[in-house]
Parts: sequence; structure tokens; C-alpha cells
Amino acid sequence: MEHRIIDDLGAMQQKTLAQKRFGKRIGVVPTMGALHEGHLSIVRRAKAECDFVVVTIFVNPVQFAPTEDFDKYPRTLEHDLELLKPLNVDLIFTPTEKNMYPAGYDTFVEAGSLTKRLEGECRPSHFRGVTTVVLKLLNITSADAAFFGQKDYQQYCVVRKMAADFNLPVDIFACPIIRESDGLALSSRNRYLSSEERTQALALSQGLKRSQCMLEAGVADVKKIRREIQAIIETSPLAEIEYIAIADPLTLEELTVIPNNSHNIASQRHFWRYILPENQLPRAVVLLAVRFGKTRLIDNCLLY
Ligand code: PAJ
Repeated sequence: MEHRIIDDLGAMQQKTLAQKRFGKRIGVVPTMGALHEGHLSIVRRAKAECDFVVVTIFVNPVQFAPTEDFDKYPRTLEHDLELLKPLNVDLIFTPTEKNMYPAGYDTFVEAGSLTKRLEGECRPSHFRGVTTVVLKLLNITSADAAFFGQKDYQQYCVVRKMAADFNLPVDIFACPIIRESDGLALSSRNRYLSSEERTQALALSQGLKRSQCMLEAGVADVKKIRREIQAIIETSPLAEIEYIAIADPLTLEELTVIPNNSHNIASQRHFWRYILPENQLPRAVVLLAVRFGKTRLIDNCLLY
């Protein structure tokens, strides 16, 4: 295992370029460590789709605002390596901050309108940091495909748009959200929740579930669905809602009514082929950000 861990950028690029010359398809799974089953499910998908898989572990300082939890972000490398062991990935990339952003580093990727709403509004410089580090990681690992979680749905949309706009020869996959058996989406930040907050945090997935039920029952009025989700979350006294958005699943523009079938299947198949299990197009996406004390949780679901 040890020999598979690389922190040097040049060595990583050489090794992956060599694999490419052998005709191997290279898949990369970018993470910030503190791995859990959500991350591992993405690694398994990458292994199924690619010949050579690189997992990157790097807590990226430029995507955290000065007020955010960069210093406090869990760093559990030993445990991460234990979790990765049985998955038998080809390389694990653990670059240092100094090598990723040496003195004088001065180039950043600024994606457009997708980064201005929702998470972008609450965390203004966040996506600039994400797109910058993801582009660097794709280049350093010579990636043919990159794998993300639907858990960070807006991040997936932003990265996909960057890949399309910059003509990157990289397929951008999204993998389903992995949840605890009671519905809470796995997150590295869940460990910060007190047991009371942990119980109350179930309101997020309950609200999301309710939205799909309402739509199935014929309620397409976004205001009504949002009010219902809000009511469910507000039964948790510790919850502070940052946003509840019901949006177009491609543009993330907020909707007033959920359309019957928002997109032309043929023209959108390219976008959805990496995310949908079946041939059904989502009509909307519901995105939530809710604070419990100091811990900020996000969750989402696609509505069909
Ligand atoms: P991180 O939060 O470590 O997440 C790494 C990947 O795991 C992301 O694509 C995220 O969506 C996915 N993920 C997290 N929880 C998940 C869950 N419960 N189910 C499925 N997938 C889940 O997202 C980042 O790191 C960073 O922004 C990064 C892309 C690495 C850039 O620094």
C-alpha cells in the first residue's frame, strides 16, 4: 500500500501518463479525506468504469473562506488508508499545500452563473476554490474520467460545466447519495453533531422525501412544496435554515411550478447519462442547506 501513496506532483503525472500510454483509462476520485462509505461507493464506481484509479486526498485551503472550518476540518489519513486498503486502488495522491499552491501561485478558475446561487451565495469564494483545485487534480492525474457525489449536487453541475466550457477530455460522473439507514446523508461533518442535533438532522431527508410524495400526489406548486419542507425542518428547534430551493436540475434556476417534463430526453441524455440509474429525466432538484449549531449540512434530491 505504502508504495501507492504519492505526494509528489511530477511523479504522479509521470506515472499516470505512463499508464495512459499503455492504453489504460484513468479515473480520479477527488476527496478531502475523512473518508466514509459515500466516498468508498464513488471509488467502487470508478473501479468499475476505469482501468486505473487514483484517489486524491487534499484539504483544499482555497475553497474555504477565512471564517470557515479549514483548520478544524477532520484529517484522518491513517484511517482513510485503512478504509481504502480493501478497495485496492492503484494510486493515492496526498499532495501538500505548499506543492499545490507554491509561493507566487496566481491562477484561479472562475465559473459563471451556476456558482452564484445557493452554495455560491452563502459561500462566495467556495466554487472558485473547487474548480481551481479540480482542474489541477485532473491535470496532475492525467484523468480520463472524474467521479463526484450527487451529495454536492451544485458542485457536480459546476465541475461539469467547467469541463464542457474548457473542452476537457474528461467524463464527469456523479454517484448516488449514500445515507445512514435512518436517512441522514453521510458527511465528514456529521461527526460534529451532538446526539440531539444528529436526531433533529433527520428532518432534512424527511423533508426531501415528502417533496417527492407531494409531487407524486399531483402538487406541482413550488411554494406549497417548499412550505411543507420548511414546516418539517422547523419541527427541529435546533435547525436554522439557510435555503430551501426547488430548481431546474440543469441550470439550478429556481422554479415556481414543477414542469411536467422539463427537458427533451434526446438532447439531455448526454448530461444525465452519468447520474441516472434509469431512463427517467428529473423534473426538478430540491436543495437544502441547514445549520445545526456550528455544523452546516447540505442535502438534495432529484424529483421525478
Ligand atoms: P469531499 O467533501 O471529501 O467529497 C468528496 C466527494 O465525495 C464529493 O464528490 C462528494 O459529493 C462525495 N460525497 C460526500 N458525501 C457523500 C455521500 N453521502 N454520498 C455520495 N457521495 C458523497 O467535495 C469535496 O470533497 C471537495 O470539494 C473536492 C471535490 C475534493 C475538491 O476539493
